Amino acid sequence: MLLTNARSRPLLKAIRHKLWSAVQNVERPAESGVHIDPAEVPPVDMSTRSRWHREAAASPEMAAFHEVLRVDGRSVRESVLDDLATFYETTPEEARRRCLHWEQISVQEWAEAGGDEGDRGRVEFYRTTRSWSYDLMWWAYLQSEGHADPSNVVAVRFLQEWAPGRRHLDFGSGVGVTTQLFAALGWDSTMADLSSTLLDFARFRIERRGGHPTAIDLLDQTLPAGGYDAITAIDTLAHVPDINETARTLHAALGPDGVLVTNLDIREAAPETVWHLHDDAKRAEYDLRRAGFVPLATMGYDMTGYRKVPASGPRFRLFVFTSWLLLVSPPRRWAAAATRPLLRGLYRLRERLRGGRRQDG
Ligand SMILES: C[S@@+](CC[C@H](N)C(=O)[O-])C[C@H]1O[C@@H](n2cnc3c(N)ncnc32)[C@H](O)[C@@H]1O
Repeated sequence: MLLTNARSRPLLKAIRHKLWSAVQNVERPAESGVHIDPAEVPPVDMSTRSRWHREAAASPEMAAFHEVLRVDGRSVRESVLDDLATFYETTPEEARRRCLHWEQISVQEWAEAGGDEGDRGRVEFYRTTRSWSYDLMWWAYLQSEGHADPSNVVAVRFLQEWAPGRRHLDFGSGVGVTTQLFAALGWDSTMADLSSTLLDFARFRIERRGGHPTAIDLLDQTLPAGGYDAITAIDTLAHVPDINETARTLHAALGPDGVLVTNLDIREAAPETVWHLHDDAKRAEYDLRRAGFVPLATMGYDMTGYRKVPASGPRFRLFVFTSWLLLVSPPRRWAAAATRPLLRGLYRLRERLRGGRRQDG
């Protein structure tokens, strides 16, 4: 697995990594729109994927991921469509249509729930959404086929190495596929989500496969203090209103030396991305650090693993002050504003070169 770890990596590689992360963060294409259908496009040429993606795709953990998606000996595709068609009482063809066009349906659901009208509307959206079941199931299918980054496979591979125990919480668990993957690999895994509709669908899927899901509905239940050794929050922080408050909650839910794997999925502002509430990766990083999370390593899909440390004492205060200086202080912001045009130019150059290489190869 490709992990960029400060202890094992030469300085030049570290600088190059930091530079490209900065370039990446300054301009990221919108990842919205109609989903592709793997049945209608050529198979993925894995040589065009990053090393960590290739390694994850060839790993036993990916084989386990395939298995947890399948039901009754059917293919992943058939199983995904059958889960959706059975639960939502529709046909597999209609389920496929809703998977591909989930985003437009989601925009409609957001408007109907009053998502733009504040916290009540946002919560109402998560308590009623159906379209995200379609999106997240199709996303898992795309991941299994190599069309999307296998974030949960990468996360479990990292945590098997770094977590102090095998008690896992998937925060923002969606349709439950990450919990299934951890459970299949011998972890004691719990799902937690604000969305009752997604939790219901995830329970249905797991029970259908003979599993016994443990789930926490975050609307009215709290996380047990020190209850977990590892937490994943994949593509979730973008949707919580206050990242620091959430980080403190996750910090309390981890036991000593517990590890959090998370990312911040930033999208360009548009009607199709209104549920993405944040656009400042550095502020999010600072919010995590001041809650008591120290970065351990970065991995694919822009995810970072953090170790829980006690959020007190002079060393911790120094760490928070340095983080503030480097991430969100006014001088840091001025420097970021000044270098933004250069980074944007580098990003476009890199994309042009990559496009050229793909056409050549
Ligand atoms: C984009 S989905 C990602 C789901 C899953 N982690 C995955 O990788 O497939 C975001 C998830 O965050 C959940 N969510 C939204 N707001 C939340 C909140 N305030 N607290 C916890 N989960 C939340 C959503 O219901 C959804 O399941």
